[in-house]
Amino acid sequence: MKRTLISGITGQDGSYLAESLLASGGEVHGIVRQSSLLQRTRLDSVPALAAARAEGRLRLHYADLSDSSSLQAVVRQVEPDALFHLAGQSHVKISFELPEYTADSTGLGTLRLLEAVRQGAPRCRFFLAATSEIFGEPVESPQSETTPLAPINPYAAAKVYALNLVRIYRRAHGLFACAGILFNHESPRRGENYVTRKIARAAARIAKGLETHVHLGTLVPRRDWGYAVDTVEGMQAILNAEAPDDYVLATGVTHSVEDFCAVAFRIVGRDFREHVILDSEYARPVDITETRGDPSKAYRELGWRARTPFEELVRLMVEAELRAL
Ligand SMILES: NC(=O)c1ccc[n+]([C@@H]2O[C@H](COP(=O)([O-])OP(=O)(O)OC[C@H]3O[C@@H](n4cnc5c(N)ncnc54)[C@H](OP(=O)(O)O)[C@@H]3O)[C@@H](O)[C@H]2O)c1
Repeated sequence: MKRTLISGITGQDGSYLAESLLASGGEVHGIVRQSSLLQRTRLDSVPALAAARAEGRLRLHYADLSDSSSLQAVVRQVEPDALFHLAGQSHVKISFELPEYTADSTGLGTLRLLEAVRQGAPRCRFFLAATSEIFGEPVESPQSETTPLAPINPYAAAKVYALNLVRIYRRAHGLFACAGILFNHESPRRGENYVTRKIARAAARIAKGLETHVHLGTLVPRRDWGYAVDTVEGMQAILNAEAPDDYVLATGVTHSVEDFCAVAFRIVGRDFREHVILDSEYARPVDITETRGDPSKAYRELGWRARTPFEELVRLMVEAELRAL
């Protein structure tokens, strides 16, 4: 994959993916949207990405998922060999507050990009970041590529639409279009309003005496949490496969929000029970009890597996927060 286009390059996964592709000698182009601030924290703060931008190996292009003509123009201009589509409104709770925007960016945005590829670069390999949320309250555990889709929030409904489009464009138009069904993956670059980053940040700030408590919606849900760096390796393996297909990328292990709190606060020598306040303001209208992915197809066919254990992931996140202070 010589020339790669990434939608969502300013996000957690986009920044790690760009780093990885640049390290293997590729040319990377990223889609960014107009905003009143030019600061792009995840790109600006990574020396390898800043250097690649200065050398012209990493280039940014303005476009928006709501604007077909801008997406078509970027695809025509870049003529990518591969397109990783990672952009969209991805926050579950916010998708209840912005359901139409979520459907437009995450759902229709995928249609607009697929059309741009079909019309402007039909040989380009296309990757969609789908999500374990598409399974809703799963009917089986672990969840695999064949588990029935039953979304229970607007974000997941939009991703089901996007996933179906990938399958339709693969079958009807012969595109090399694939999806990674991604289970939760975290890192120090996770958005600040996601629960893992919030907990890691709170543990560090409380340890330093800057705060005393953190407010969370619930401690109960269990998630299959992996490390984003492992996940972006899986994304590349999916597009490097001989034939296009969809794969679950997961660890196969679950932990509760309470487990995350317990490990994060233990790392800073505290007991989470003295610092966590349950607050219904942060609870979702409906939530999934447990997700657990079955990554065996990705291992069998691509040789991919998640390498970073849960405790190490939490430590990476808490230590990054401590350093940032
Ligand atoms: N992280 C996970 O645990 C997880 C799990 C399952 C699936 N996924 C999926 O994987 C993908 C990457 O996740 P992430 O954690 O890296 O997400 P993220 O950090 O929230 O990044 C989202 C990216 O999308 C961009 N974006 C949003 N709306 C856009 C629009 N209208 N036009 C152009 N760009 C837009 C954002 O740009 P700005 O910087 O301008 O906001 C940002 O670059 C997402 O599609 C997500 O749904 C993630």
